[in-house]
Amino acid sequence: MEQMLNNLKEEALKAIAAASELGELENIRLACLGKKGQLTAVLRQMGSMPPQERPRLGQLANAVRDALEEALASRREELEAREQEARLAAERVDVTLPGRKPGRGAVHPIMRLRRQIEDIFLGMGYTIEEGPEIEADYYNFVALNIPKHHPARDMQDTFYVGADVLLRTHTSPVQVRAMEKARGKVPLKMICPGKVYRKDDDATHSPMFFQVEGLVIDRGISLADLKGTLLHFVREIFGPGQRIRLRPSFFPFTEPSVEVDILCTACAGAGCRVCKASGWLEILGAGMVHPRVLEMSGYDPGQVSGFAFGLGIDRVAMLKYGIHNIRHLYQNDLRVLKQFQGGLE
Ligand code: DAH
Repeated sequence: MEQMLNNLKEEALKAIAAASELGELENIRLACLGKKGQLTAVLRQMGSMPPQERPRLGQLANAVRDALEEALASRREELEAREQEARLAAERVDVTLPGRKPGRGAVHPIMRLRRQIEDIFLGMGYTIEEGPEIEADYYNFVALNIPKHHPARDMQDTFYVGADVLLRTHTSPVQVRAMEKARGKVPLKMICPGKVYRKDDDATHSPMFFQVEGLVIDRGISLADLKGTLLHFVREIFGPGQRIRLRPSFFPFTEPSVEVDILCTACAGAGCRVCKASGWLEILGAGMVHPRVLEMSGYDPGQVSGFAFGLGIDRVAMLKYGIHNIRHLYQNDLRVLKQFQGGLE
């Protein structure tokens, strides 16, 4: 047995020294020291040795194992160092290469337009208000002169969260909140940009979209003030040559109510397919605040008057940038969004 152990040691040491890669070394380790390895097999025969021999043979076996483990470890170190050197030699680093630039982000066209609209109205002395997207039925409808069961609700019935709680269908409830906050003081001049929700979904309507509400209350406010304000606004957005046209309309919270058109952005008024040959495109709803709406929120319609308007930012974005499907604004397709990097104000 002593002979066997010595032979095993000698051969294994030779094999270890000759190993030229890590995988080969591991195979040698398993063949000698593994569960089914040679050393293990020799040790199994220990039981058949005379008892007085066993301690010495045991010691010898341990010494062989230690010697092999040590040889394996130092050869592994050598081979690892060699492999690392080879890897480094293969992958040269050119430190003079220019760095890789991180991709540049850009403001989303909707947000860009929203900020532009905010700037225009800040410049005219308006404040910017915010209201909740989850809104009470009272603010979204009742206080805007749309009582329960009013047919105007049908157009807007939306996502109800509770009995009298819903995702707001327009930003108009913020008019009411702003009036309550102002407690009858004038002048009140505010806009409110934000998300609104409706059950619509087609090429020009998304179930979530953006509106900007506007409200002015003061003594002696007239439809002429509304018209002048909106004309200034559309010229800032679409260019100094723009014009507006007011058409009579109906909203429960304004009297009189108007729909406002601008010159068609595709044909500048000549008449084309986009404007159905009319030369005009609708961009917003507006009107003089209904006396009942003023009253409900603490203003005296005998003393003050006001105008209000509501426009869709998405719609304005589509007209301004020539986007034909509203979904392009919400699909986060970089091929679309990249067109809005830089350049556009
Ligand atoms: N809230 C209306 C809508 O979403 C838009 C609107 C029309 C707002 C007239 C107004 C307004 O403030 O005066 O369809």
